[in-house]
Amino acid sequence: MSQRKILVTNALPYANGDIHLGHVMEAIQTDIWVRLQKMRGHQCIYVCADDAHGTAIMLSAESLGITPEEHINQVKREHERDYDGFLIGFDNFHTTHSDENRELSESIYLALERNGHIARRNIRQLFDPEKNLFLADRYITGACPRCKAEGQYGDNCEICGSTHSPAELIDPKSALSGATPVEKESEHFFFTVSAFTEMLREWIHGGAVHDAVANKLGEWLKEGLQDWDISRDGPYFGFEIPGHPGKYFYVWLDAPIGYMASFLNYCKRERLDFDAWWRPEGDCELYHFIGKDIVNFHTIFWPAMLESAGYRKPDSVFVHGFVTVDGTKMSKSRGTFINASTYLNHLNPEYLRYYLAAKLGPGVEDLDLNLDDFVQRVNSDLVGKLVNIASRCAGFIGKNFDGMLAAEVDNPALIKEIQQASSEVAALFEAREYGKALRQIMALADKANQYLNERKPWEIAKSDRQSPELQQICTTGINAFRLLAGYLKPVLPAMVANAEEFLAIEPLRWRDFDSLLLDHRINRFQPLMTRVEPAAVQAMVEESRESWNRRQDGVETEPKMEAIEEIAEEIDISAFAKVDLRVARVAEAGLVEGADKLLRLRLDLGVDDEGNPVERTVFAGIRSAYKPEELKDKLLVVVANLKPRKMKFGVSEGMILAAGPGGSDIWVLHPDTGARPGMRIS
Ligand code: 2FM
Ligand code: ZN
Repeated sequence: MSQRKILVTNALPYANGDIHLGHVMEAIQTDIWVRLQKMRGHQCIYVCADDAHGTAIMLSAESLGITPEEHINQVKREHERDYDGFLIGFDNFHTTHSDENRELSESIYLALERNGHIARRNIRQLFDPEKNLFLADRYITGACPRCKAEGQYGDNCEICGSTHSPAELIDPKSALSGATPVEKESEHFFFTVSAFTEMLREWIHGGAVHDAVANKLGEWLKEGLQDWDISRDGPYFGFEIPGHPGKYFYVWLDAPIGYMASFLNYCKRERLDFDAWWRPEGDCELYHFIGKDIVNFHTIFWPAMLESAGYRKPDSVFVHGFVTVDGTKMSKSRGTFINASTYLNHLNPEYLRYYLAAKLGPGVEDLDLNLDDFVQRVNSDLVGKLVNIASRCAGFIGKNFDGMLAAEVDNPALIKEIQQASSEVAALFEAREYGKALRQIMALADKANQYLNERKPWEIAKSDRQSPELQQICTTGINAFRLLAGYLKPVLPAMVANAEEFLAIEPLRWRDFDSLLLDHRINRFQPLMTRVEPAAVQAMVEESRESWNRRQDGVETEPKMEAIEEIAEEIDISAFAKVDLRVARVAEAGLVEGADKLLRLRLDLGVDDEGNPVERTVFAGIRSAYKPEELKDKLLVVVANLKPRKMKFGVSEGMILAAGPGGSDIWVLHPDTGARPGMRIS
């Protein structure tokens, strides 16, 4: 097999927040793949960086009273520490705020401009006259122009789901200063990406992405690609566009170029030929691992930019889903929004590497970290099966044979079977079928344990502690362990490094699985992995919850109650009496295509006098907090006499009551008291 040259990246985390389980999952997925390639003898280089530009980072630094540079340097140190804690083996971790990235971003932009792929035109946008800043949609709040709900963001309403422009909000305010924004015109620069539609179609359908992603992208291409706004007006933390003072590259332009920049920085250090890796005609491979929320940037804009500037395009973009915890979106108040450092305060990183690998496949489905299953699976597979093989044999070899393995194994058929799995295990890892690879490895571990159960070395040791048979049985067990641990090395690098030390061998490579360890002296056995303690998992959840409470308060002190929103203007009882609140049962709940905040609920309110079912269809902006299946058959409270309203997606015939700050923290009020659908609440 000839040596491949492979460049691999995962998405660059923003230099503005902590590394959390979502980042960790992606990095673990990537790291396993990279370690596999390295063990197979390929030249595989894994680079990453912090994504350091943009308004959010500029504003955070301002509120911390430090410069953006100081802010991103501090965050970078924390990010590196966290990734390192999870044994992520980057060959280089750089930043997009670097000389290399400036140089590459400028030259790529100039190529786009030279090739006629940059258009310029004026656009009108809301502007904060106090902060002297154009406001992105998320920095503008006001009342929804349709349902009048207060506190809605600039692009859509969380309550009624309507989409609107920030300028349409009633009484809009800048979320930064509270000032009323004004409309202002300025010139923006656009990348005319539609010029690449044909190229993208070919690239997408040529195997660069998973089928599910290709189908979605195919739809976008059919709808027609819009020009992409790649400039922002100052003040902005980023790179100025060459020749255009006061205009900056939008953060998403220079972020993916950050992959190249990190690699260029690595090339300078390691004296590698950057161009050889990025020329279209070169024989190198390029892969990006990303989440499904940033597909458009990586599979539309990025390949089009690379094509225009004369660089190679990615061979594949590997897209994964989101991490959920115990079946729901990570929630700060429930303590399941888990930061990398919080996890590491309580648990061994390899537990999580193993658990996530066991559930990872090549698709875009979300991956659930079920905390009970996590404890059970890690203990049963790693401690109960894998390490058990070694611990059952090592003592006899150490004490009775002075650490020497026999010259032959007792069960060559078993060992052969395990050896023969090596190419299939490698192929499964290569195809990112980690779950399948681990199942196969564990099935072989079961066989090895079963063999030891049958041969009972402990019985033989009682009658003849130095019998050659005992030595050969234990040599079989140790060899089975060596192979299986070797197969798991991409997943469990630290545990396997300790196993290599115990076996007194050089770091395992994939080709070593052809040979066996015979007539060889091993070291004293040390426990290679301890059991996951459920109490440690609980403590991690508690720490996550508490740290969120502290942050809510903005100070690191004991949690205190947050002030409630101001109470609205008084109404008299007759006004309230008009609101007919009823208990309703969710008969059906489903997603609404094209509205990522909404769920469509069919509500059962019992039957009327004549026995006819009373139902309401309601569109509720609670998708960020609930999956449809979680709501099925739940009771909740609905305003039953609200005038039906026509929305973009259908008619909404009521409103459900919910509380919470938003995001994953919205609670529909369902009284689980045995109330009957249709009961009036008064
Ligand atoms: O979504 C994000 O977290 C971005 N910081 C990812 C950037 S990936 C690449 F393009 F830089
Ligand atoms: Zn609304």
